[in-house]
Amino acid sequence: MTDPRRPTSAFHAANADPAVTARLVAALDAQAENPGVRRLREWAHAQLAARPGERALDVGAGTGSETLVLAAAVGPDGTATGVEPHPGLRAVAEQRAAEAGSAARFVDGDALALPWPDGGADLVRCERVLQHLDEPARAVGELARVLAPGGRVALLDTDWATFVLHPVAPEVGPALGAVARATAAAPEAGRRLAGWLAAAGLTVDRVGAEVLLHDPRAITWPVVRGLATAAVGRGLITGAQRDRLYADLTAAAERGAFHLSVTVFAAVAHRPG
Ligand SMILES: C[S@@+](CC[C@H](N)C(=O)[O-])C[C@H]1O[C@@H](n2cnc3c(N)ncnc32)[C@H](O)[C@@H]1O
Repeated sequence: MTDPRRPTSAFHAANADPAVTARLVAALDAQAENPGVRRLREWAHAQLAARPGERALDVGAGTGSETLVLAAAVGPDGTATGVEPHPGLRAVAEQRAAEAGSAARFVDGDALALPWPDGGADLVRCERVLQHLDEPARAVGELARVLAPGGRVALLDTDWATFVLHPVAPEVGPALGAVARATAAAPEAGRRLAGWLAAAGLTVDRVGAEVLLHDPRAITWPVVRGLATAAVGRGLITGAQRDRLYADLTAAAERGAFHLSVTVFAAVAHRPG
């Protein structure tokens, strides 16, 4: 079995030096501001409908923003726990919870071996984690294991086959798409969420989706540079094609015509009582 927290992922615990952590936090904070992400999160929280006194788990909690939402919903009689294996992200989540006066707590752990008893959670959410795992279906089985009868689960994840960048030369676009898909261990996680839940013995109640759409006037340089640099490094495009890409995107952004998008899907299910 492969290590789910594999070193190739930026989120691997080994990549915990402060500079890497700061980049991850900046990326997650930027995504949290994206209107599509906000809408899908709100939709998923509404579907989960956490009630006072419930026990909530946020698996792969990142900076803990959604664990804090769960903590507020379950109140002082409930518990909201973020499972986060990356020590740098976990420290940020703990600090933000303390600053907000939230009762959310954070623990080390792995989606494939949750530090939680069978049936010990009333609700579970897991956002944009499964795409990073080599065995995402097994992880969903683990989420189902900790869910109490009648408990609810929300999965949110990207489908990298929906990645669109524009304008891009015809010979460069497929190369960047291939690199985008290769950044995730399970790049088609988004389309598989409902199937994984059903295979884990859960009843799928609702599915949803939002487009993570970027500002047409501001190039998301960390994403664009990351993909283009990797494409050059793999010999998929030349340095000249990369420079042309940067020039084309810059000109497009100046006239408000830059486009970068990817679809994030969600599926909500419950464990039959
Ligand atoms: C793209 S981030 C998403 C964070 C947060 N859920 C959000 O949506 O902002 C992926 C998260 O999955 C975590 N992660 C990676 N491998 C994991 C594993 N095996 N078990 C649990 N979490 C994992 C990472 O540390 C990181 O916090």
